[in-house]
Amino acid sequence: MRFYFAPMEGITLHPFRQIHHEFFPGITKYFTPFLVANQTCTFKRKEIRDILPENNRGLSLVPQILGNKAEEVWWALRELQSYGYQELNLNLGCPSPTVTSRGKGAGFLADPDRLDAFLDSIFEKRDRETGEGIEPFLLSVKTRIGIEDGREAAALLSVYNRYPIHELIVHPRFKKQLYKGTPDLDVFQMFYEESRNPVCYNGDIRTAEDQDELLKRFPKLEAVMIGRGLVRDPSLVRQLQGNEGADLLLLRKYHDALAAGYRECFADDLHVIGKMKEIWYYMEDRVPHEEKDMKKLHKARNMAQYEAAAAKLFGTGQ
Ligand SMILES: Cc1cc2nc3c(=O)[nH]c(=O)nc-3n(C[C@H](O)[C@H](O)[C@H](O)COP(=O)(O)O)c2cc1C
Repeated sequence: MRFYFAPMEGITLHPFRQIHHEFFPGITKYFTPFLVANQTCTFKRKEIRDILPENNRGLSLVPQILGNKAEEVWWALRELQSYGYQELNLNLGCPSPTVTSRGKGAGFLADPDRLDAFLDSIFEKRDRETGEGIEPFLLSVKTRIGIEDGREAAALLSVYNRYPIHELIVHPRFKKQLYKGTPDLDVFQMFYEESRNPVCYNGDIRTAEDQDELLKRFPKLEAVMIGRGLVRDPSLVRQLQGNEGADLLLLRKYHDALAAGYRECFADDLHVIGKMKEIWYYMEDRVPHEEKDMKKLHKARNMAQYEAAAAKLFGTGQ
């Protein structure tokens, strides 16, 4: 089984990936949160910082692009390729209204014909320019299964089946679900059985039992992508491979390394604390604690207060 760390905007940025990889090696590929392709044909400074090879040493990284105009996305693909990336990923799943209202992310799924024309243009350019001597690159796609209804999925799959997509990562929720409800495994089954491209499953894997259930139904699955489950429990993949999970001491060391990693990147304590709080949002139930101690952590205004609150949560502070 191949295990991919899902992109999570604001969370799985380079300091997080680097520390996670150091403490819990075993992730086949990390995916960056989306970088935006737009008419300016430039990336923001923080987007570039996130993909710089020196900030991603030792791990396998796939940059992800969000866009819907072939020329802009083509520019972004070539730009990212110039940093040495051989696989790039297209985001066709982001359900955030600010993204979908512009026909990007999951919003693109509303119009399979436009998606078809877009992919046609991208793959045609790739094949033509590769023929003219540019290095080839692999293009994977991360997709939801439609806007609101399982009946949309067949048309989307038939579009994807027309292109040599390196891997089709399917998060079987609809745009309208955001992150609520449950993944639709019946629709995923159609992708699993009828996709001409290799399929990776993504969604709601939190425990070894979740993986076992999934593999009972889809025994030929060779790759899964995990997001929230891995932020909650950074040792999850180790457990999925039949090994012990992290104990509280290891979790504490990982937590401290993350906080230190963020401090190296952000001058402002509140910025660091904000980033750590996002992790705690997912990790909270892995660390037995009293509610009042978590409240203290959320009230921290500087690193000294934060560190004291975190020590208390881990049972080593006052
Ligand atoms: C806070 C947050 C940020 C996310 N950012 C991205 C993103 O930048 N690109 C993307 O393709 N998916 C993004 N996702 C979706 C995840 O990659 C993943 O598809 C989703 O969380 C379901 O997988 P999981 O249940 O294993 O978390 C995000 C999800 C969350 C909760």
